[in-house]
Amino acid sequence: MRFHLVFAFFSKISLYDCLGTYEVFVHLLLGFINASRTTYNAIDMIKLQIPTEKIGDVPLDNHMLLAAGILGTTAASLSRMLFLGAGGVVTKSIGPEPKNGHHGPSLIPISGGILNSMGLPNPSQEFTDEIAPLLAVSKSVVISIFGGTPEEFAKVAEWFPNASAFELNLSCPHADGYGSAIGTNPRIVRECTEAVKVFDKPVWVKITPNVTDIGVIGRAAEIGGADAIVAINTIRAMRISTGMRCPVLGNKFGGLSGTAVFSIAIRAVYDLYEACSLPIIGCGGVSTADNVLEMMMAGASAVEIGSAVYENINVFSDISKDLYDANGIPAAEIVGCAHD
Ligand SMILES: Cc1cc2nc3c(=O)[nH]c(=O)nc-3n(C[C@H](O)[C@H](O)[C@H](O)COP(=O)(O)O)c2cc1C
Repeated sequence: MRFHLVFAFFSKISLYDCLGTYEVFVHLLLGFINASRTTYNAIDMIKLQIPTEKIGDVPLDNHMLLAAGILGTTAASLSRMLFLGAGGVVTKSIGPEPKNGHHGPSLIPISGGILNSMGLPNPSQEFTDEIAPLLAVSKSVVISIFGGTPEEFAKVAEWFPNASAFELNLSCPHADGYGSAIGTNPRIVRECTEAVKVFDKPVWVKITPNVTDIGVIGRAAEIGGADAIVAINTIRAMRISTGMRCPVLGNKFGGLSGTAVFSIAIRAVYDLYEACSLPIIGCGGVSTADNVLEMMMAGASAVEIGSAVYENINVFSDISKDLYDANGIPAAEIVGCAHD
């Protein structure tokens, strides 16, 4: 902290002639605030207890799950992520028909995140054989499903009688007729939730941030009988290659994920906590223990992690080392504590 202040002081004095006194003061103050924050986090970071109760009616070994679509197409990769410290896993989204997805390029790393336009590639019903052995040994595997209508959601859900829980993908921003194409309509969100709730399993509804009022969509899922809301999926986005003079993604548009979306995810979770009474699973840009705590303070009972896994396959165990302690507090003490 002292170093920050001394550095800030001397660097600002040398700029004194060109900056006004007021600006120098503001810069010094910001340096002081940042330095104090660093010190606060290093000394006082909250430690949590491992969860002892189900979250969204699903038993989890910790507060972190692998997000849908990340290493989630085989039982082997999903069980590897459980082995590497994920408290639960969500599968790749499975739909009513096999799908190849959009033509490439469909995954571009960009500054602060990833732009993807996978377009929900999936093996459809064949996935039931693939995932069956894992469902037999773990109760922390959530099956992500999608459809274009409530009937299609029900058709896919029926293929997984041994699922511990379903996550409804009503939020992918780059698949015609699916995801956010229908998930921005509260009536359809409610009907799809009702259609899957018939199977008497926990239903998590993953909703899109690409709406004016995310609370309206969250409440629709709640009325439909959801057990938890997951927010957020990727944010519709695009980039253009100035060299090629065309969009970089084969599909032109895609979804943005990673650190770049963290602030938007925090805002979405905060809004949902105000609007709904269901547990919220925060998702979007989480990569550190401090990010997990911040999501919880906004209102999340647990988090899902996606893009950060590509950077660090051990992200779950690394976060656990920083987040948990035998003398930690129950997460319930901080969930939503940032609200008035
Ligand atoms: C390559 C890729 C594929 C994805 N596939 C799915 C998917 O099949 N179903 C889904 O609901 N979300 C999918 N997502 C969205 C993630 O589950 C997550 O909501 C999003 O990436 C934000 O979290 P993150 O910033 O931690 O990655 C995918 C994301 C990426 C990057």
